[in-house]
Amino acid sequence: MAMAMATAPASLSLLLLLLSLLTPPPAHSTPLYPSPYHSPPTVLFPDYRKMTTHFKIYTYDPPNPFHFTTPSETQFHNSLLNSQFLTRNPNEAHLFFVPFPNDFSTRPLSRLIRDLRRSFPYWNRTLGADHFFVSRAGIAYAPDRNVLELKKNAVQISVFPTTSGNFIPHKDLTLPPIHPNPSPHAPANKTASFLGFSKLDMKIQSQSQSETSLVQEMEGDPEFKIASEPLDFGESRFCLFLYGGDLTWVGEAMRVGCVPVVITDRPIHDLPMIDVVRWSEIAVFVGPRGGVGELKRFLSGIDEERYERMRRLGIAAAQHFVWNATPQPLDAFHMVMYQLWLRRHAIRYARREWV
Ligand SMILES: *[C@@H]1O[C@H](CO)[C@@H](O)[C@H](O)[C@H]1NC(C)=O
Ligand SMILES: *[C@@H]1O[C@H](CO)[C@@H](O)[C@H](O)[C@H]1NC(C)=O
Repeated sequence: MAMAMATAPASLSLLLLLLSLLTPPPAHSTPLYPSPYHSPPTVLFPDYRKMTTHFKIYTYDPPNPFHFTTPSETQFHNSLLNSQFLTRNPNEAHLFFVPFPNDFSTRPLSRLIRDLRRSFPYWNRTLGADHFFVSRAGIAYAPDRNVLELKKNAVQISVFPTTSGNFIPHKDLTLPPIHPNPSPHAPANKTASFLGFSKLDMKIQSQSQSETSLVQEMEGDPEFKIASEPLDFGESRFCLFLYGGDLTWVGEAMRVGCVPVVITDRPIHDLPMIDVVRWSEIAVFVGPRGGVGELKRFLSGIDEERYERMRRLGIAAAQHFVWNATPQPLDAFHMVMYQLWLRRHAIRYARREWV
């Protein structure tokens, strides 16, 4: 209850902040809802508030006590266990949480689902569609019936970026990564000629030839700065990230007003908050093939009005990517919960006894 009361003013001030950001639009170029969200704020925030008071999760006991291994999984799990969302009454639960360790192979996973199916009536009602689980890399298809139902029907929460092929769009979702230590920078003014700061992970295996040569080109270009510690986020116009590399700082870049540029040669389906936040209005996605010349042309082609809108919407959305030890309204934990809330409408079949 305290949580719900704390939420209302926060959402309201966010709404006011949003409204204040939206200077009157030159009608031709501004979208209908110039907000960082897919839904209009007048729909999103009341629904979010409803979630904070009504949403109920029933969690099964894990097969054995275990710990999740990555910071965002651990943070999500601890926050969930200490939240008002848990219920001991499965009959009032909207969703069911199936905890299991990341190193579970197909066989123990199959046994786990088989046991749930036999011991509780809930799995059979939806064949797992009102169930969810956390798996760092996501789970792959397996010919086993139990694992296949888990894979195809239950909501998977993986850590962004998800192992390729392990993510089903519109059903699955990802946890925003936790960056090691928040920097104190506030949004700053930009040095006009400075094109970008980039935090590029040179060690990643999956990096393609064109990505590698793009990074080498940027290293030799005075307009780019390649470093492993993002000290100058706030002073850069654009912050460049390689998809598949270290993306832990994307949220932080947005917070300090550095527009994220994600370099990728494939479509990305598993962006965190993808069904809440309009990524296309906040970040730029470009392929590596044209090299640094093409990248510069593309980024300089973004006009000031669009750039400023992206920057402001990024700052407004950044709070949703922050993990707090004690969850705060609208932070990463609550927005992951909200995405689960959006997925709660599974059709439950009563079991029919054929005679
Ligand atoms: C769920 O369905 C399976 C058959 O698919 C059956 O073996 C099992 O007993 C059912 N579970 C419950 C709790 O009725
Ligand atoms: C940014 O520029 C504005 C004027 O354009 C100025 O008022 C403000 O103090 C500057 N902020 C910083 C952090 O330099």
